[in-house]
Amino acid sequence: MTALSELVRLYDGYVDTYREADGRLPSMMELKRVHTAKVVENAEAIADGEAFSAEERELALAAALLHDTGRYEQLKRYNTFRDSESVDHAVFSHDIVKAKGWTGDDRVLKAVLYHNRRELPDDLDPIGRKVAETVRDADKLDIFRVLENQVETTDWRGDSRAFWNLKVSAPPSPEVVSAIGERRPVDYQYIRSLADFVLIQVGWMISGLCFKTSMKMCRGRGHLEFRRRFLHEITDDPSVDRLCDIAFEILTSHD
Ligand SMILES: [Fe+2]
Repeated sequence: MTALSELVRLYDGYVDTYREADGRLPSMMELKRVHTAKVVENAEAIADGEAFSAEERELALAAALLHDTGRYEQLKRYNTFRDSESVDHAVFSHDIVKAKGWTGDDRVLKAVLYHNRRELPDDLDPIGRKVAETVRDADKLDIFRVLENQVETTDWRGDSRAFWNLKVSAPPSPEVVSAIGERRPVDYQYIRSLADFVLIQVGWMISGLCFKTSMKMCRGRGHLEFRRRFLHEITDDPSVDRLCDIAFEILTSHD
C-alpha cells in the first residue's frame, strides 16, 4: 500500500498541473481542493471516533483524498461538474487514480468508484465496506457545509442559477417526501424544487449516514437546524417539520 504521505505528494503534484501561470487554481477547482481537504478531515474524525485500526484509518484517508480526483479534469474538459452533462466523476476519478498507478489497493479504488452510488454494491469485504462508508459519510458531511455556504453567499432568491434553476418557492414533491420518510433512495428525476434538494440532505440524516460518529458530527455542527430554518423560509409544507423531526430522533438516538 502506498503510504498516505506519498499519496498526498502525488495528489498535490497532480493538482498543481491545473494551476494558472500565476500559481492560482481556477476558483471552481479551488472549491474542490478545499472540499477534498475537508473530506479528509472528516474521515480522520470518523476513524478516531469509531476506533479504526491503523490499516483501516490509512485506507479510509487515502480514499477520502482520492475520491474526487477527476473533478479537475472534468471541469477542464467539459466546463461543468454536472455528471449528467459530462462523465460520472466517480468512475472518472477511479480511472485516473488507477491509470496513474498511485495505489493498487482494491479497497481504496472501490471506495473512490462507489462514492457517489445510491447504494454500495455488495462486492466489498468488511474493511472495504468500512473504507467506502467512511468516504461516503465524510463527503456528505462536507456537502452539508457547502450547501450552507452557498445559501449564505449567493442571492438564491433572486438568482435562480444559484441552485441549478430549481424552483425556489415551490413545495416539495410528494415522491421525494414519501421516499425520504420511508427511507428509500430518492429518484433524482423527482427533484424539482429547492425544497426537494434540501430535503434530500435531511434524508441523508435519516438513512444516509453510516457511523454514529458521523451523526454526532452532523448534530454538533447544527446541519439539521440550518435546514429546518431554511426550509421554513421557502415553504410552509408540513412535511418539512415531519421529516426534520424524524432526522432529529435519529441523530440524537446515539447520545
Ligand atoms: Fe464526489
